[in-house]
Amino acid sequence: MRMTEDGRLAVSYNGTPAYDIIWEQNFEGIAAEIERIGLAGRRFCIVTDSNVAPFHLDALKKAIAPAALKVTEYVFPAGEASKNLDTVKGVYTHLIEEAYERKDCLIALGGGVVGDLTGYTAATYLRGIRFIQVPTTLLSMVDSSIGGKTGVDFDRYKNMVGAFHQPSLVYMNLNTLLTLSAREYLSGMGEIIKHGLIKDKDYYEWLSANREGILAREYRTLLTMIRESCDIKRGVVERDPKEAGERALLNFGHTLGHAVEKLKDLKLLHGECVAIGMAAASEISWRKGFLSKEEYEGIVRVIESFSLPVTVSGIDAQDVVETAGHDKKMEGGKWKFILLERIGNAIIDRTVTREDAKAAAMNVIR
Ligand SMILES: NC(=O)c1ccc[n+]([C@@H]2O[C@H](COP(=O)([O-])OP(=O)(O)OC[C@H]3O[C@@H](n4cnc5c(N)ncnc54)[C@H](O)[C@@H]3O)[C@@H](O)[C@H]2O)c1
Ligand SMILES: [Zn+2]
Repeated sequence: MRMTEDGRLAVSYNGTPAYDIIWEQNFEGIAAEIERIGLAGRRFCIVTDSNVAPFHLDALKKAIAPAALKVTEYVFPAGEASKNLDTVKGVYTHLIEEAYERKDCLIALGGGVVGDLTGYTAATYLRGIRFIQVPTTLLSMVDSSIGGKTGVDFDRYKNMVGAFHQPSLVYMNLNTLLTLSAREYLSGMGEIIKHGLIKDKDYYEWLSANREGILAREYRTLLTMIRESCDIKRGVVERDPKEAGERALLNFGHTLGHAVEKLKDLKLLHGECVAIGMAAASEISWRKGFLSKEEYEGIVRVIESFSLPVTVSGIDAQDVVETAGHDKKMEGGKWKFILLERIGNAIIDRTVTREDAKAAAMNVIR
């Protein structure tokens, strides 16, 4: 762990400084940041969803006003079902009616659904305008708001249409997490535990040791944790901006996790499925001789200590393996499986067989 005390982290894209991540306890600093990046005096459209708007839209609008020519809003119904081209069309229409130009800016206020959809709209409106990420879920703070992957779902295919489009700023008001449901908050912990497991053993141990402060959403603890996780994600996306190699390590727990997510038809949250997938992938890591049995069991205990599931019922192991086989992480007919070579170091493994995966899936199905 670096344990920096800064409230700011610079992120590069293809070797050049691209945008800063800011951590605050309110929205008040955003006008100054907008000025700093040269966007003062533009039009700003805040895109958000129906759950987030009642809590946080007014405060953000007020904070942006001093730096804006005009602030408008586009609110769509909350949920993954809205992450599609129809909603994008709604935003385009709003932007055209309000005379948004190339130099103007979108602001994504919300979780990963809002962030992905707003980023994609910004990537395509007038061949690309700027956008700012204001993530309000734990998952979007440590994962989806960083790295420039944007997109929407198409029919039943997730993230089928998208673009790489870097934000101009990522501004996190950590107090927005206080209105998030416990279940959504804990789901974000799935990705955070993943960060420790794949990149930093000290951080993984710190998470365990600070469990109470994390569950209580104490500000200092949140700040340390979110900063650390953002820094881990930053490092990975900087070294691999277009997902050619290292970025695959972020898929630890996702190969089987995504399959569980599909088979449970979105009854489980993403982070919950990742938790189950990490338990399964850790078991394979133990069976391959990378982890000790104690380490594997310890991982399961840590996941459970954050009230995340490590087992699932009502699905079939064979279906899990087949669904995972259709996943894009399959390369040339071979599994591209992410395992833990040790705690704090993930590797891409191409030796995991369908039988290995099925045995691991059976082990997490009750
Ligand atoms: N671009 C990427 O790199 C990337 C990475 C991971 C996930 N994703 C995407 O992110 C999405 C999931 O993101 P998510 O988990 O944030 O889901 P989400 O955006 O649906 O948010 C979860 C729920 O919490 C509500 N909410 C958000 N902030 C709130 C707050 N502060 N207070 C109260 N309620 C609040 C939302 O309205 C929603 O109901 C998926 O579509 C996934 O594909 C993208
Ligand atoms: Zn994920």
